[in-house]
Amino acid sequence: MTIRFQCWLLYAFLALLPAILPVSAQAQEPREYKASGGASPSAWPTAPVRAAKGMVVSDERLASEAGVEILKQGGNAVDAAVAVAFALAVVEPEAGNIGGGGFMLIRLANGQAKFVDYREVAPASASRDMYAETDDQASSEASVIGYRSVGVPGTVAGLALALRTYGTMKLPEVMAPAIELALQGFPVSDRLSELLSESAGVLGRFAISRQIFLKKGANYEPGEILRQPELAATLRRIAKNGPTEFYRGQTAHDLAKEIQREGGLITLEDLERYQPKIRDPLTASYKINGHDWDVISSPPPSSGGIATIEALNILAPIQLKSWNDPESVHWVIETMRRVFADRAAYLADPDFASIPLRGLASHCYADALRKTIDPSSAATSRQIRAGNPAAYEKSDSSSAGCPQVAGQRIPIGNDSAAERALAEAARGGHTTHFSVVDAAGNAVANTYTLNDNFGSGVTTMDGFLLNDEMDDFTTHPGSPNMFGLIQSEANTVGPGKRPLSSMMPTILLRDGKLSFVTGSPGGPRIISATLLSILNWMRLGMDAQAAINAPRFHQQWLPDEVLLEPGFPDAVARNLENRGYPVNPQRMWIGQVETIGIDPQTGERLGAPDPRRNGFAAGY
Ligand code: DON
Repeated sequence: MTIRFQCWLLYAFLALLPAILPVSAQAQEPREYKASGGASPSAWPTAPVRAAKGMVVSDERLASEAGVEILKQGGNAVDAAVAVAFALAVVEPEAGNIGGGGFMLIRLANGQAKFVDYREVAPASASRDMYAETDDQASSEASVIGYRSVGVPGTVAGLALALRTYGTMKLPEVMAPAIELALQGFPVSDRLSELLSESAGVLGRFAISRQIFLKKGANYEPGEILRQPELAATLRRIAKNGPTEFYRGQTAHDLAKEIQREGGLITLEDLERYQPKIRDPLTASYKINGHDWDVISSPPPSSGGIATIEALNILAPIQLKSWNDPESVHWVIETMRRVFADRAAYLADPDFASIPLRGLASHCYADALRKTIDPSSAATSRQIRAGNPAAYEKSDSSSAGCPQVAGQRIPIGNDSAAERALAEAARGGHTTHFSVVDAAGNAVANTYTLNDNFGSGVTTMDGFLLNDEMDDFTTHPGSPNMFGLIQSEANTVGPGKRPLSSMMPTILLRDGKLSFVTGSPGGPRIISATLLSILNWMRLGMDAQAAINAPRFHQQWLPDEVLLEPGFPDAVARNLENRGYPVNPQRMWIGQVETIGIDPQTGERLGAPDPRRNGFAAGY
């Protein structure tokens, strides 16, 4: 059978999928929930989707189905993940992408685990103070809107590298569903329609964004078909020519020319120079209720993996009961406060900064931080500063004694910075996570992003949106970024540097076997949402869907406030206030965790989509 004929068969099958799948026992009924807090948790699924062989859970039904189709054709989890990523670039344009970057964590059934870092990098002419030089309106938005906010995209190179190294199929095969979805179009969901309307102001400033995503001025209504022929043509060229197309070929030339013409920084040389990296993931082990757990997570330039290991270490001896128990919530909030203070001080691109990773992951360091937590009342973020992990670089859990180290204080910016943080922390943004497990037990957790919803707002002449990832650098040293995060000097802009990220695809093993595949969008809330999903599964023993549905909470050191979800118990919220916590009165959804658990008894894949948005699990 020729590839062309196989592709045709796949298209035909995909076209029939909507008719076939609703009756399948292994795919959930389509549901849609609004991001803005209107969703009723009473309608959320109470059980995961079970399947014997393979499972894909992503934000979008069409992408999950495309991934499962690849698995059914005999592709492995990496083949399916690459198919899902390209499909999301079409059907979830606010976050799925080829003009951004991300992280793919792969754990093969043979035990090998690797992390594909395809984070964007700063162009060669970028410099530390490029956004801070003037503080007029144009400059203050330059890191979030328009051509100067764009980092050199890594997605195409990263996906191609993952496929070439760990996959079994070829790009044209795994990209076929995405090309078809871009060409034929797909019905706009309630959520996409709402997001397009919310972002119309920014999208409307760029001619091609206006033409493709705003129909030259009118909003896409739910159910209308969104076709993206320019994107389909670009995807076709990438499928045919490989990643070279994006970094050296016609697409690269078009992109560099357009960016240069419009005052951006990226050149053809920046594109040619881009390299994704295969890194070793971070790992940590815990013994819980007689089981051995391994946490495999994202290394820097992600801050999330190390923050989570630090948090799990602090919480290790604490008896967590449930999120109806104020004391358990209190311990987690104080832990979050401390790991976020360390994030602000120490985390950055590991190829440019020396990061005290061993110290941050040390049990001795966790013991020292735990001792700073008052079990009954809230600390303030003015008291709690970053710790001194460097002093624990040589200690580990087997050390006879832990070193005695005095605390360290780092500058946290002035009051106006804290106020700006409060105002900006509520701003939206979007990223997307998906999880895949195949029949052999290979697993992929992938989170990738354009940073803001629809990234920089710019759609290129080749039909894809560009990221605004430059805002993840410390653009104004001492001031918070759009998520209210204070960041370190080590994370200032520099040529070829990767901006610090919170994205943290993570995989858990239980007694040496695959157990949980997880991750989330949400800016800094990624870390809290993913950490909570891990605690729910590993420490509290929740079922996979319960681990996703459980109400979430968030504290990120600065601003000094606690965020709660709409379903968070009121009695616990009042208790937190009595302990001295400033609780943000506005309830909001935190993260969008698309997860797969493994039933330890049957080995079944348990697809647990997040009902806060459009999460969709499809298995077979
Ligand atoms: O890499 C990061 O941490 C951010 N660019 C992610 C942004 C994000 O998750 C926005 N989403 N809700």
